[in-house]
Amino acid sequence: MCGIVGYIGSRDSQGILLEGLKKLEYRGYDSAGIAVFDGRKLEVRKSQGRLANLEEKLDGQPLRGYVGIGHTRWATHGKPSDVNSHPHTDNSSKFSVVHNGIIENYLELKAQLAAKGHQFVSETDTEVISHLVADLYQGDIVQAVQAAVRQMRGAFALAVLTEYEPDRLIAVRYASPLVIGIGNGENFIGSDIPAILEHTRDVYILNDGEMAILTSNGVELLTTDGNNISKEIFHVDWDLLTAEKAGFDHFMLKEIYEQPRAYRDTMMGRVIEGTEEGSLKVQLPEIGMTDEQLRAIRNIHIVACGTAHHAALIGKAVLESLARIPVETDVASEYRYRNPIITPETLVIVVSQSGETADTLAALREAKRCGARVLAITNVVGSSVSREADDVIITQAGPEIAVASTKAYTSQLIAFYLLGLYMADKRGACEQAQITMVLQAMQQLPEQVEAILSQANVLKQTAQALVKHQSLFFIGRGVDYAVAQEGSLKLKEISYIHSEAYAAGELKHGTLALIEEGVPVIALITQDELYEKTLSNIKEVTARGAYVFGVINSGQESEISQSVDELFAIPQTLPLLTPALSVIPLQLISYYASLALGNDVDKPRNLAKSVTVE
Ligand code: M6R
Repeated sequence: MCGIVGYIGSRDSQGILLEGLKKLEYRGYDSAGIAVFDGRKLEVRKSQGRLANLEEKLDGQPLRGYVGIGHTRWATHGKPSDVNSHPHTDNSSKFSVVHNGIIENYLELKAQLAAKGHQFVSETDTEVISHLVADLYQGDIVQAVQAAVRQMRGAFALAVLTEYEPDRLIAVRYASPLVIGIGNGENFIGSDIPAILEHTRDVYILNDGEMAILTSNGVELLTTDGNNISKEIFHVDWDLLTAEKAGFDHFMLKEIYEQPRAYRDTMMGRVIEGTEEGSLKVQLPEIGMTDEQLRAIRNIHIVACGTAHHAALIGKAVLESLARIPVETDVASEYRYRNPIITPETLVIVVSQSGETADTLAALREAKRCGARVLAITNVVGSSVSREADDVIITQAGPEIAVASTKAYTSQLIAFYLLGLYMADKRGACEQAQITMVLQAMQQLPEQVEAILSQANVLKQTAQALVKHQSLFFIGRGVDYAVAQEGSLKLKEISYIHSEAYAAGELKHGTLALIEEGVPVIALITQDELYEKTLSNIKEVTARGAYVFGVINSGQESEISQSVDELFAIPQTLPLLTPALSVIPLQLISYYASLALGNDVDKPRNLAKSVTVE
């Protein structure tokens, strides 16, 4: 997730581009850059790190010109660095491109262009686009961009500027957001509305496969196939803060709704066609371990904190059942002090959204000190964890602003599923048909999440009833228990209502004493093999007066409805994949509970987004 901006008009573009980028920094701040046509040629300035670094550079050497593009980066391909920063240019420096998204076939395109003599300086997928456009240019930038887009696979929002035609700015959208701002004698491009809101409230919102040609005096809209289209102008009447949250009341809610996109992006480029017809497999080029090293792994330790630790619990189930490797999980603050038994055949996996959590980082260092190979699952390229680990899987959740983690957690689950299948394949632990079946089911998850989100109103009512209680319980077995722990943490941290998560079968060993008339129990019952057992545990609590809210698989409504007071059905998927769905209603219940109690949803008391102290 990156932010892009563009300007064409009669004002100096530098300030307008920088102001726009400031509004987009929440989308990533690994580097920033702008390209401006100065009347003679394209000039580019870029700098690693926050926008302030670029501003400092520009203070000494400002760029003057009436047309330009800009970018703030959330690194995906290539570490944060000056050279990997956007805008990217071709070898002649006549074409510049800013990009948000991922070009899945960039290696293939890069090889083709390199064979024609193009020389690349960065590790990014984006640089390929500037070379491709330059290669295809025959005097018309629109046609060159259209031809380039036809060869590109993946997700992209682009702004393209060439010094051959500085009176036109090109914008393209394919699965990454892009809006066009309509001004008076000037026009704008932005990844989202806040980037341009200061200048205009009239925008076109581009759909996938659409492009815009901007001049100072107008905007022409067409499809990337070249057909003209007309579009209604969308008049924005939100204030800036609302616009930054894309119309949602809180970042947490926005991030909950971003999950279908985050699932798709985390899978993108990693799920590919297998050798047999119709088969699918996982590729993880970011893992440097050889097949021999992967086969030599005897045990795995997964270490993380908080919500990331709850993802680790699912990771354990996934790796054990798919790759058949024994896994232990630890909270990071305990791991380094328990003198863990690490052998040369131990793989340590650390999970951290921010990649900066002090306990997780300390555990990583301890594991390395003991000679383990460390694989990180993190959301932040260039974070300490990503720099110090041997192998890094980057989740593509995009920046998470709300303290309560939602899309980062579910993207970690997707990363674990991919890793489990990848290891299973390399170790011969799963048949190809099973791998294909799991991947096909995973590809349905984004739409299934959308189906759950469309029922948010039902969950709002559930939450409003729950907030009348002082305390409640979450129960489940197997992966349902792991999701129960995440549901309980989510509710506690933003609603401040006391809750406990219990393995459903363990209740009778003590905690059942706390169940009395009216106590709410949220019971997850999605695992076919454990169905009967969990149902018995539900009966144990209802018999003592509990009010049970069941999270179940769709299709089982009528048989379970007699055993619970209320239920919510998630779409059917494979048992191992249910956590990626069953946690969504729990996130929404927590959000609406916090809202009903008038709490600061995005910044709960006593907590911080990144915990950099031990
Ligand atoms: O950045 P990390 O994933 O390492 O953070 C770990 C925990 O602090 C974090 O998951 C925390 O539990 C969540 N904010 C809870 O929603």
